Amino acid sequence: MLVKTKDKLCKELNKIRVKGETVGLVPTMGALHQGHLSLVKRAVADNKVVVVSIFVNPTQFNDKSDLSRYPRNLNADLKLLEDSGCSIVFAPDTNEIYPEPDIRTFDFGDLDKVMEGKHRKGHFNGVAQIVSILFELIKPDRAYFGLKDFQQLVIIKKLVKMLNLQTEIVPCPIIREPDGLAMSSRNELLSDEERKNAPFIYEILQEANNQTGKKSVKELINWVINKINSNTYLTVDYFEIVNDKNLQPVTSWEDDCKKVACIAVFCGKIRLIDNYFLN
Ligand code: PAJ
Repeated sequence: MLVKTKDKLCKELNKIRVKGETVGLVPTMGALHQGHLSLVKRAVADNKVVVVSIFVNPTQFNDKSDLSRYPRNLNADLKLLEDSGCSIVFAPDTNEIYPEPDIRTFDFGDLDKVMEGKHRKGHFNGVAQIVSILFELIKPDRAYFGLKDFQQLVIIKKLVKMLNLQTEIVPCPIIREPDGLAMSSRNELLSDEERKNAPFIYEILQEANNQTGKKSVKELINWVINKINSNTYLTVDYFEIVNDKNLQPVTSWEDDCKKVACIAVFCGKIRLIDNYFLN
């Protein structure tokens, strides 16, 4: 069922709540692909009722041209969701979500001072605004987020703690194209040549994982950046190897934590992100 307003959404959810059924939420910005659908599948397996939200949230875009070119196709999205088992698609207009400008600011400490937070100023504040609005409206028992956006996942977990919410955050694995490129709504914006070269990012992340014993952290970081920049279609925005809990850069392989290699790369004008848990 397609729902465009908060009123209708809450009425539908109230009917579900009186029956005591569990509600899972999959927040998205649409232009859905198999990565999104894997979250929906997991949510359908875990919950009686699943809400998928589709909303291109303007407050999380720090770059106006990124917002204007972001792919939007509600009809195609609805078609993809038809047989997914989700019960409600919530696709509100901007005025429905932000009848007043959202002036709230969230303090995530050091978590949003690095990587995406550092390179896209205000991005995670915008993500926290929309996700907190959706959580407040829907009060899901569980909400599903992809490891593709690893920093976002860590920050959402922090948000739930900060707001004392009961929602369980369920991390879901990265879904890739057969050639290794992490699925992303932005992939459809790549030219044919860019698309052919984009899988190089994952190739190098895998190679990096094989080199942890042979190079220091610093050497490996430089190696990855040089390798990717040597491809004329790709320019590294950042590459960091971080502690999976606090997202701070790892300085030695001896550091006692799981280490995640996180990367953002410009492929032409399109910015792609990916990550890899090193072992
Ligand atoms: P969006 O980029 O549409 O992604 C929605 C969810 O799908 C996120 O949790 C993201 O991590 C997950 N996802 C995207 N590509 C994936 C892939 N290849 N494999 C697995 N999961 C994948 O992330 C957002 O939207 C927004 O910031 C949002 C949370 C909806 C707030 O506006």
